[in-house]
Parts: sequence; structure tokens; C-alpha cells
Amino acid sequence: MRISVIGCGYLGAVHAACMADLGHHVVGVDVDPGKIAALAEGRAPFHEPGFPELLARALDCGRLTFTTDIARTADAQVHFVCVGTPQLPGSDAADMTYVDASVTALVELNKASGRTPIVVGKSTVPVGTAARLAAQLEAVGSTLIWNPEFLREGYAVNDTLSPDRIVYGLPQGPAGEAAREVLDEVYADQLRRKIPRLTTDYATAELVKVAANSFLATKISFINAMAEICELTGADVTQLAGAIGMDDRIGKKFLQAGVGFGGGCLPKDIRAFTARADELGAHDSVGFLREVDKINLRRRDRVVHLAQEALGDRLPGAKVTILGAAFKPHSDDLRDSPAVEVATRLSALGADVVVTDPAALPPLARLHPTLKQAEQIDGALKGADLVVLVTEWREFVILDPVETATLVNAPVIIDGRNVLNPAKWRSAGWTYYGLGRP
Ligand code: UGA
Repeated sequence: MRISVIGCGYLGAVHAACMADLGHHVVGVDVDPGKIAALAEGRAPFHEPGFPELLARALDCGRLTFTTDIARTADAQVHFVCVGTPQLPGSDAADMTYVDASVTALVELNKASGRTPIVVGKSTVPVGTAARLAAQLEAVGSTLIWNPEFLREGYAVNDTLSPDRIVYGLPQGPAGEAAREVLDEVYADQLRRKIPRLTTDYATAELVKVAANSFLATKISFINAMAEICELTGADVTQLAGAIGMDDRIGKKFLQAGVGFGGGCLPKDIRAFTARADELGAHDSVGFLREVDKINLRRRDRVVHLAQEALGDRLPGAKVTILGAAFKPHSDDLRDSPAVEVATRLSALGADVVVTDPAALPPLARLHPTLKQAEQIDGALKGADLVVLVTEWREFVILDPVETATLVNAPVIIDGRNVLNPAKWRSAGWTYYGLGRP
């Protein structure tokens, strides 16, 4: 198939390379010339395991090209819209500028070329968007399918090639049926492998995505709320999570209490959902998501307060080593990262903060040039008065407490992800603080 992918961020770049890997001819489009130049030269603009190899393979076989000129996609049979919908500054709502601009450009392209390719929306959007865009596209002969994406950063390639499920939001009738057949051809490999494909209406397809992310965010904030109660009662949230997770109606996953969720998806998606619910007159229906957000942000406060408690009056000028900058391991994404917030807040309180991270130092230097960084973990730890683990990279989780104690000035650690063994660290002479653990 001849495919275009509009928007070459995380979602789009990975989608484009995966589609080329499946045998399609793909043109990736983005308005950012720097990103397009990097991708065309086989340089990944973000850290994603497996993506550089996939990109190189797709470029080498000649099935993947990149451009800033959407007119070069005029012969595509399918256009995927993968642009971002970030949080609008000063509002909880999503910024729809890029989605709207993409669809307007596609409408113009149809008018100029006389072709009527199908358009597939993958961006995360407020419910009701697809119906609005479909009307614009129908007027120039194109059918829209809403096909939300569920990939996780760090596992993006696998999640794209082997998703848990594929969802199509479609109009009823022959146009929808014809478009479904085209998209089935694009995903023929996945469908042959019996990956479930569900067809539904636009609104349900849009809601599947936001409901899934809302549920995941709620699960994390639920266990973090339990951590707050554990802190007041001397209970241990890690044991609590282990015990309730054994009930497979609850499940163990996404019950890791700690400094909370960040990234470019969960925080902004729950906020955009509450903003959309307000517009629909359903303020109360997802009002609990405001609490989910608040619980999540309180966990960042908790880590800062623990640092203040640990250092007391000595905080100004104390050397604080922050282990982690990315919002989660296997990523260099700093969007809404709890690690970055903790580092900048402690720095603002006067601490001499040094950050280390296996992947995220280059973007950290660009976005927070005043934060000191150290490439080597040992260098970062040297002379520390306090160590704060905020991203659970394996490099940090396997640190040896005895060796680490020889590097620091004072053996005090805040385990912001509850990934260290407190008994082991305490017996090596450390003062250990976890979140929701005694
Ligand atoms: C999330 C969803 O998991 C994907 O399914 C979805 O497709 C994606 O958003 C999206 O909307 O594009 P992602 O943002 O990559 O994926 O990250 P997650 O793995 O969900 O982690 C989010 C945050 O939650 C991280 O900061 C992580 O550290 C935190 N987390 C996760 C916890 O604090 N505790 C947990 O138990 C699990």
C-alpha cells in the first residue's frame, strides 16, 4: 500500500517505520525540518529501544522516505494522522491546532489531486472530534476511520507491530465498509496473526483511548493514595499492592506506588478528558480524575518534603544527586517528568543538584540548561549529602549500597520508586526513605 504518516513524533515516526517494515511504501511528513532531516539520515530524534535498527532497515530498503512537503503524499491510498495534541497553555484542554491543520491540508490535497484516499486518525483527541473531521473529509470524498494508538514509550515498536487490540471507529454504510477493507489491507499482517480488531462508531473509538489512559492513571493514583495512608499508619504499600494484586480481578500491573506518573500522555489525557466532560455538561462523571491528578502531584511534593526532612537546615548548598530525569526508564522523554520537577524544585530551594540519567541528559541540557548534570553515576554520587532515585533505570536499581556508601558524603537515600531493598540499604549504613513504606 502507499501510505503517508502525518506527524513524525513518537507515534508517527514509529508507525511510519513499522508500516514500511510490514512492506508498505511510506512517506513520513512533519513541519519540523530538523526532525525530518534526522529521520531521513537514519538518526532517531528520541530514545526508543529497537527504533534506530527498524528505521535503518526501512530506509535501506527504500520503502520509507521523509518530507516537510505534504504535497508529496498526493498519491497515498491511506493517510495516517499522528500529530500531537498537547495540553493548551493555561487550560486543561488539548490543543487541536495540529490535528485541524493536518485535516485542512488533506482536504486541500484531495481538491488539487482529485483523489479520495482514506484518512486514519491516530492522535488522542477529545470525543466528538472524529465526527467533526469526518464531515470535512466527506465533503471531498474521503472516509475517516478513527484508529487510536495504545503504544507505550520504551516498547513502541513491539506495541505497534503487535498491539493488544486494533480499534476502528467507522461510519455505517458502504463508505465505512470500503474504508475498513482498505485499512484491513494495511494491517493484514496483524490480522493474520489474529490480533483482535474491533469495529465501532467514532465516539466509542475515541473514548476507548481516553478511558484506557484514565483507568491506568486512576490505578496508579489509587495505590499512591494508599501510600499516603500507609505513611500515616506505618503500613507498607509495596506489601499491600502485592497482596491486593494477587486477586486477578485487580491485577498486579500499574500498582507500583512512588513519585507518580508523568510523560506526554497520562497527565494531559486525564486533564483533556475532564475539560471535554465539562463541555458536555458531565463535570461530575469524570470529576474523580481531578482527584487522580491531585494525588499524583502530591507525590512529587512528598519527595521534596522528604528531602527537606532529611537535610533540614542544611538543604541550601547541600549536594543532592538525582538519579533519573526521564518520566520512566527506556525513554528520554522529559514531558511532565516527576524527576525533573523534583530536581528543579530542590534546586530552587538552594540545593546543589546534580542529575544523572542514562538517556535523557541531552534533552535535559536543552530544556533545563541551569541544572547540573553528570554522565557517570559514580561522578554524580561523589560527595552527595542526599541521593534521590526518581526514575527506575536498571543502572540505579542494581546499585550496590556498600560501594555507593563509599562515594557519598552522607548515606541518605530517598527511593522515589520503591525499587530498592530497604533492609539491604539500611544494613549498609544508609538512612532509607521510601514512599508509603515505613
Ligand atoms: C501510556 C499508556 O500506558 C499507553 O498505553 C498509551 O498508548 C500511551 O500512554 C499514550 O497515550 O500514547 P506511556 O506514557 O508511554 O504510555 O507510559 P506508561 O508506561 O503508561 O507510564 C506512565 C507513567 O506512569 C510513568 O511515569 C511511570 O513511571 C508511571 N507509573 C506506571 C507508575 O508510577 N506506577 C506504575 O505502576 C506504572
